[in-house]
Amino acid sequence: MSKDTSDVKFRAYPQFNQPELAKIAHLRHRVNKLCLPYFDRKSGPDRLARAFVACRAIDVKELLESSEFYVRTRKRLRSKHMVDLCCGHGLTGLLFATEHCVETVTLVDRKKPDSFSVILEVFAELYPYVIPKIRYLEEDIDVVGEQLTPSSSILGLHACGGFTDRCIDIGLSLNAHSIALMPCCYQQATTRAPRVLRDVLGAEVAKDVHRTYRMEEAGYIVDWTGIPRAITPKNRILLATQRLT
Ligand SMILES: C[S@@+](CC[C@H](N)C(=O)[O-])C[C@H]1O[C@@H](n2cnc3c(N)ncnc32)[C@H](O)[C@@H]1O
Repeated sequence: MSKDTSDVKFRAYPQFNQPELAKIAHLRHRVNKLCLPYFDRKSGPDRLARAFVACRAIDVKELLESSEFYVRTRKRLRSKHMVDLCCGHGLTGLLFATEHCVETVTLVDRKKPDSFSVILEVFAELYPYVIPKIRYLEEDIDVVGEQLTPSSSILGLHACGGFTDRCIDIGLSLNAHSIALMPCCYQQATTRAPRVLRDVLGAEVAKDVHRTYRMEEAGYIVDWTGIPRAITPKNRILLATQRLT
């Protein structure tokens, strides 16, 4: 029987499995004091959400997206050195930096948004040990390769179109420990999946099948998982870990 990975339940924020909260999971509204009743548990993720209320640095959607991506990939992706490509606000990479086995997290984006320094302050308050692990490179993904540590783990969350394929290029060139991608903007992707696969499977699945073969051929085992569709319909995660020989 085939496994349906097109939707999954919330794990970092299980309260969002309630239909009335699931309805607001996609909102691009800052986490503010009106959100406090949604994040009233004692858990780490709720504590982090409450810490964002005063600074209003992150949207509900972005918080849920990064957190749900992190809980689903952390065990297989975490490694000594990690790279978050096209990281934007950098929250996903920062979540990985809370792992004790992670020594460095390199965040890469061609433009560091103002929200990053505010989010970093929140982490400095809650998880001060994270700060020395972080470096933010304001660089183009096409030229950053030489500044990255071989065997790092690579993550590319909504890197956009062909940049997801650049994340794979960089991951393979570094002999990455593991690679986790959540693709979007498929119409801009450079992947050339065979026409028959695009016709039968649809362009999005076909492109991710093509990316999966590419990483499998390079020595990785690739799984498909995802985050809840209530956050975004572009919710598929391609999770590649090195095949043990
Ligand atoms: C859709 S956002 C995703 C941001 C973040 N990963 C997230 O999930 O919120 C895509 C990011 O890619 C960055 N970007 C676009 N072109 C880039 C390039 N050539 N090199 C590096 N970053 C780039 C943008 O600045 C933007 O922050």
